[in-house]
Amino acid sequence: MKFITILGARPQFIKAAPVSREIRKKHTELIVHTGQHYDKNMSDIFFEELNIPKPDYSLEIGSSSHGKQTGLMLEKIEEILLTEKPDYVLVYGDTNSTLAGALAAAKLHIPVVHIEAGLRSFNKHMPEEVNRIMTDHVSKYLFCPTETAVKNLKNENVTELIINVGDVMYDAVEYNRQLAENKSGILESNKLVSKTYHLITVHRAENTDDPKRLTSILKAFEQIVEEKVWPMHPRTRNKIKEYGLNLDSIPKLTVIDPVGYLDMLKLEANATKILTDSGGVQKEAYFLRVPCVTMRDQTEWVETLEYEANILVGANTEQIIEATVKNVKPIYKDHFGRADASKKIVEEIL
Ligand code: UD1
Ligand code: UDP
Repeated sequence: MKFITILGARPQFIKAAPVSREIRKKHTELIVHTGQHYDKNMSDIFFEELNIPKPDYSLEIGSSSHGKQTGLMLEKIEEILLTEKPDYVLVYGDTNSTLAGALAAAKLHIPVVHIEAGLRSFNKHMPEEVNRIMTDHVSKYLFCPTETAVKNLKNENVTELIINVGDVMYDAVEYNRQLAENKSGILESNKLVSKTYHLITVHRAENTDDPKRLTSILKAFEQIVEEKVWPMHPRTRNKIKEYGLNLDSIPKLTVIDPVGYLDMLKLEANATKILTDSGGVQKEAYFLRVPCVTMRDQTEWVETLEYEANILVGANTEQIIEATVKNVKPIYKDHFGRADASKKIVEEIL
């Protein structure tokens, strides 16, 4: 069988690594990198660290408005699909690269395999929500990470093949967590001591593109006295500069460039708490049993909210502080499968 995998953004490289490994045991896979993310530490570093084969096609689309970015991808992906004639097209998650890949394939009647299908925030102001809904409704194989995702698709009357295989990000964590612990020197290089710091990530458009929300989040950080480390997404760095916001009043804060996956896993596993608006990071906090505070108004990962393993606080200054200082005692469950999602996906397709 011949698979074409469409990738473009940081979390997709991480999700694809275990699935590609599984596909390539018996089948042919070509990788198309749209170039949505292009900085070395937003892209190349993941291919190197996770041993993902180099892309067969690099489209180098780069950053632009939603319509333009998605349109340019669509045109180029279609050309590749017409030339390569794959049996299946694989897309991951909910980025503009996901939507472009799914649309291009569906219009050519090539079966679309959506990995991480069925997630919903029920907030259509999020670009990701639009991408997910559209992708799910043109996909033939919908591989869900949770039972909630399966229910969401059934509620939308999706009738194609829907299977809960568990979460491929769990596969990635289990495969790499020990390696990260042994190999990464990120704590030493930033003078961080295990379980004495909080890890921060912020990059969602709903937070970064609204000066009021971003200011409110930074205000909370000013009042959190613990050591804090923040690998900053380029979007956020640009917006902080654009709005003229100042990080100097935040005590004990170390801002660093985005890090590779192994460094990130090490930072996550050794943090006391994780404050984030990332989808992937919320789950990794759960897999690694680190209490999480999510600075969003909704989460697709509702299972993580049980027993306060994850607390949803929006961008509200007081709520962020309150959740961060709260002494929680979560109970963790098997909501995300058994770290064999990649294997199940390849088996099910065949
Ligand atoms: C995208 C996804 C989001 C996902 C995130 C993962 C969409 C609509 N959004 O958001 O769902 O959670 O990736 O990180 O697809 N930039 C750089 N260098 C890079 C990449 C981006 O400087 O390598 C800057 C550019 O200024 C760019 C901005 O970041 O305009 C945003 O990048 P973009 O890919 O449009 O969206 P993300 O916020 O990364
Ligand atoms: N990540 C990383 N380095 C960083 C920040 C995040 O490797 O500096 C990883 C993180 O561990 C997770 C994924 O990137 O696996 C999450 O991606 P992101 O937060 O960009 O997007 P989202 O999951 O919200 O779509």
